[in-house]
Amino acid sequence: MIVRSEADLAALHRVGRIVARVLARMLDALEPGMTTAELDVIGARLLARAGVRSAPQLAYGFPGATCISVNEETAHGIPGRRVIRRGDVVNVDVSAELDGYYADTGGTRVVPPSTGAKDALCAATREALDAALAVARDGARIAGIGRAIETVAKARGLRVNENLGSHGTGRHLHEAPGFIAGYFDPRDRRRLQAGMVITIEPFLSTRSRRLRLAGDGWTLRGLPGNLSAQYEHTIVITRDAPLILTRA
Ligand code: CO
Ligand code: CO
Repeated sequence: MIVRSEADLAALHRVGRIVARVLARMLDALEPGMTTAELDVIGARLLARAGVRSAPQLAYGFPGATCISVNEETAHGIPGRRVIRRGDVVNVDVSAELDGYYADTGGTRVVPPSTGAKDALCAATREALDAALAVARDGARIAGIGRAIETVAKARGLRVNENLGSHGTGRHLHEAPGFIAGYFDPRDRRRLQAGMVITIEPFLSTRSRRLRLAGDGWTLRGLPGNLSAQYEHTIVITRDAPLILTRA
């Protein structure tokens, strides 16, 4: 969407703050021995208490309130019986709708004890998010977002996941301007404009560029042993630094 009024902006801030808080609470609640379904219940309760609806449920009938992806699962993991273990790399993605406005956020955490490689993966993915935020402004090429993410990935010896990208949001979970690649696509001639609401969500992996859809019809997985991280903000484009809506 394009933000047209103060009312639009206030509504986006409201839902953005809620998903940011729910994500932070869920990541803090991570503990070895719990199942991903138990973690999702924590998220579902917090979303309900805040009066918002799970966006993946609402938009796609996703079988969970949030997406929880562990280790070789990169994204859209279905909460279930999988038990979280020490050393797991866990990604939680929280998106919700309030009064017709959507916000989308995500983050990755390693359940202690971590390793240097896992910490480096998370740090590089955060760095990629920051690099992409720094080039996201009015008039800039949308392809610059993927270029910024890919540059960091290459410098850190990691791969960008080509099936996952950033996207427009605001009035629908996924909307115009559509898919925003995490790699540089020179054919993408689109430009950002002030007021545009998009996510920026780099997905970096240790091994896999291309992901496969699992038999459950939702989960995207890399090669065996692949680990991924993702950090996501919903932002509003301005002539200067973007407004970040998904900050707790
Ligand atoms: Co998300
Ligand atoms: Co998203």
